[in-house]
Amino acid sequence: MKVFARAKINLFLEVLKRRPDGYHDLDTVFQSIALSDELLFEKKRSGFSLTVSDKAIPTGEENLVWRAYKLLSKRFPREVGGVSIHLEKRIPSGAGLGGGSADAAATLKALNFLFELGLADDELKNSGIELGMDVPFCLSGGAAVASGRGELIIPVQRKVDFGVLVVYAGFSISTPAAYGALRLNEAQTRRTSANTVNALGAQDIALLWHTLYNRFEEVLIKIYPVLGEIKKALIEGGCSAALVTGSGSAVCGFAPSVERLKKVASRMRERYPFVSLTHPVNKGLVFQNNAA
Ligand code: C5P
Repeated sequence: MKVFARAKINLFLEVLKRRPDGYHDLDTVFQSIALSDELLFEKKRSGFSLTVSDKAIPTGEENLVWRAYKLLSKRFPREVGGVSIHLEKRIPSGAGLGGGSADAAATLKALNFLFELGLADDELKNSGIELGMDVPFCLSGGAAVASGRGELIIPVQRKVDFGVLVVYAGFSISTPAAYGALRLNEAQTRRTSANTVNALGAQDIALLWHTLYNRFEEVLIKIYPVLGEIKKALIEGGCSAALVTGSGSAVCGFAPSVERLKKVASRMRERYPFVSLTHPVNKGLVFQNNAA
């Protein structure tokens, strides 16, 4: 069985406050994009094996696919049998694109199907939280506003279409390190995702560009000036807006259509190791033989 696991970007990301459990309360707007990893699942008599196209990616317990399998096989020791999984990695890791979370979501849903575990969507989401706060969103995907640690998802309507140019400079940023670099001041005013949500639903693309925001961007650009250079090059190259995504390191350029990003995409390809010209989609996971 083949599953496409889509990357996510954050159109808006505000960090509200540090919580007693060490996490942070967020107000964020997630959007799935067509850029995806591909996972192949094959049942076998016993045991678990994971292969990854990119040899730099760990295949043991650091891999969220491995952890998703262990989680379900522990919970359903009789039902979950042997499986071999191949992961064709296309989403850069440590880029803020939720690639590992998308892979975990794909694994939970595929194993639920293959071994007939009968888990409802909410139960899959609860299992997903144990693997990472982006996993619940990746299970459903589309456009959604998320609160809490990022795990409380409310789908939102997207009536606008646009092009997204993802640029990855070739280095990853650890999420805890990015949170650690934030200097959160309780007195600072916080922005709200409401304007982004309204712009998505109101077909107002010009308004959408104005609402794009990421609390991490300023501090990350200070630490990694290349992110600021990419953002500047995207704007100068004709993008309507550009924004660091998640806790970095990918930067996304935006324009009203994919077509309008082609020129700047080819220029960025000359300078950076990974550039993907893509667009928003309405699902986080696509099972082959199953329409998107
Ligand atoms: O949920 P996930 O495993 O992706 O989170 C990785 C790390 O990012 C957490 O261990 C935590 O340090 C930080 N984090 C946070 N607040 C969130 C989400 C993640 O501080 N809402």
